[in-house]
This record gives sequence, structure tokens and C-alpha cells, in this order.
Amino acid sequence: MRILVTGSTGLLGKSLCPMLDSEGFQYWACNSKIFDVTNTKMVNEIMNKISLDFIIHLAGYTNIDQAEDNPELAYNVNQLGTRNIAHIAKKHNVPILYVSTDNVFDGKSNKPYKTTDATNPINVYGKSKLAGEREIIKATKKYYILRTSWLYGTGGYVDAMLTFSNFKKEISVVDDQIGCPTWADDVSKKIIEIIKENKPYGIYHVSSSGSASWSDFTKKIFEIKKRKVEVNAINESDFPRPAIRPKYCVLDSENSLPDWKSSLEKYLLSKN
Ligand SMILES: NC(=O)c1ccc[n+]([C@@H]2O[C@H](COP(=O)([O-])OP(=O)(O)OC[C@H]3O[C@@H](n4cnc5c(N)ncnc54)[C@H](OP(=O)(O)O)[C@@H]3O)[C@@H](O)[C@H]2O)c1
Repeated sequence: MRILVTGSTGLLGKSLCPMLDSEGFQYWACNSKIFDVTNTKMVNEIMNKISLDFIIHLAGYTNIDQAEDNPELAYNVNQLGTRNIAHIAKKHNVPILYVSTDNVFDGKSNKPYKTTDATNPINVYGKSKLAGEREIIKATKKYYILRTSWLYGTGGYVDAMLTFSNFKKEISVVDDQIGCPTWADDVSKKIIEIIKENKPYGIYHVSSSGSASWSDFTKKIFEIKKRKVEVNAINESDFPRPAIRPKYCVLDSENSLPDWKSSLEKYLLSKN
């Protein structure tokens, strides 16, 4: 099977590509330097020359705060770029898997969001990712939209906290935002399962079971690694940032991934 992987140099791509390797898939891994998804002409020219069986579209503009000041950039990558890739999927008549976000919801719910719940993004990033979802749905019936949340993996939040603990003994972390910390490897395994098992097309919620605030998550990292860092729980309003985040963004993923604490433990153990 020949797979195009956009966004291969990102946090999720770095987890997924080695797994595709070990599963024996043939894939073309690309980033913005070699394959800019917003360059419609170039995307079409390249894609006319290669044959494909599947597309995994991870490329995205993911800086939530900077998206508020650069909405055209966020929409360019997340909507136009996704439209370009979706048209390629349609033209080649191959399935496309697009990774989307919990930020398509407003966070006003008090129970986990189902795939059928109404979307209502409250920041530019979420709006542009939802626009990307709609481009996919408009272009083709052969789609998988995987919404996930709070991804960590090599070079992400957990690693940053471990580095932080080498230098500081105290940190203030937001306690009034609830979500699902999710290990990129768990999502990568799910992506491979979907491809191998030819799962039905549609929208999937793929995040860890359970829920946590950012301060719960941070405390757990230090507890597992036995780092002595005091975590002070603060409110989002004490730490204003350009983009508003959904307050409660737990995805109902029908317990398809392990509990966030056990995955975090596994990730941290894997780092020796
Ligand atoms: N991280 C999370 O917590 C999270 C949560 C939910 C959903 N998601 C979604 O999951 C996907 C992967 O996230 P991630 O955390 O791995 O992202 P990331 O670490 O920010 O990486 C983004 C990737 O997209 C590529 N890219 C950006 N602009 C591009 C362009 N114009 N053309 C081609 N490639 C471009 C980047 O390439 P360069 O290296 O060349 O810049 C990089 O490989 C994204 O679509 C994101 O919206 C992420």
C-alpha cells in the first residue's frame, strides 16, 4: 500500500512514520518544505505523477495563540491546504484520513462530546480546522476524520515539563480547563488499525479515556518521574492568552484508547 503522509515532521508524524515502517507500508513522508499543501498548482502537478492508495493528512497550522493574529495563515493551511489534499484523494479515488481537534467544540458541555454533537469553535484554530473537516466531507465520501486532543510525544508538553523540572522547583498551571491528554503513539496505533481493518468511513473521536485538568496532568508527570516540583493550580483568567480555549473538551471516544494515566506512565517509562 502506497501512502502519502503530510505533516510527517510534526509531533504526530514523528510517532506515526516509524510505526508505518515497522508495519511494512510504503509511504511518502512530507513537510512544508518539500510539499506545501497550500500551493495548489504544485500539489496537483506532483500528485498527477505518483500513484497512491491512501492519504494521511496531518499537516496543519497548530499554533492556537498565533492563529488569532494570523487567521489567513491558519485558514490557508487548515482549510485551503486540506481542500487541495481532499481533491487529490477524490481524483485518485483513495481514502483520506484527516486529523482534527477537540477545539471544534465550544467546551460548554458538561459531558463528553460525541461525534454527532454540534460543533461550535470559539477560536480561529478550531474554526479553521472545522473548515478543513467540511472541505473533506464536501470533496469525498471516502474519509476518516479523527478528532483528538492534548497530544504529547517526543518534543511535546511532557518532555518540556521534564526539562523544566531540571531547572525550577515551582510552576503555575491552569486548573479550570478539562480535557484528555493523549499519547501520540496511541493515536498512531489507531490510525494503523483503521487502515488495516478497513474501518467504516466517518468521524471518530480518538483520545485517551478519562479526563484531567492541565494541573492534574502536570502533577502526574512529576509524580511518575519523582520530580520535586510544586504545581500551583491557577485559573485561565490568571494567565490570559490570545486564544480562548474550550473549558471542557473531553471527547467521547467510546473507551477506544487506554486511560490517560496508564499511557502517560508507559510513555515516561519508555524514556528510561
Ligand atoms: N498537537 C495536538 O495537541 C493536536 C490535537 C488535536 C489535533 N491535532 C492535529 O493533528 C495534526 C498533527 O498535529 P501535530 O501536533 O503533529 O502538529 P505539529 O507538530 O505542529 O506539526 C505540523 C506539521 O504540519 C506541517 N505543515 C505545516 N504547514 C504546512 C504546509 N503549508 N504544507 C505542508 N505541511 C505543513 C509541518 O511541517 P514543517 O515541519 O515543515 O513545518 C509539520 O510537519 C494537525 O493537523 C493538528 O491540527 C493536534
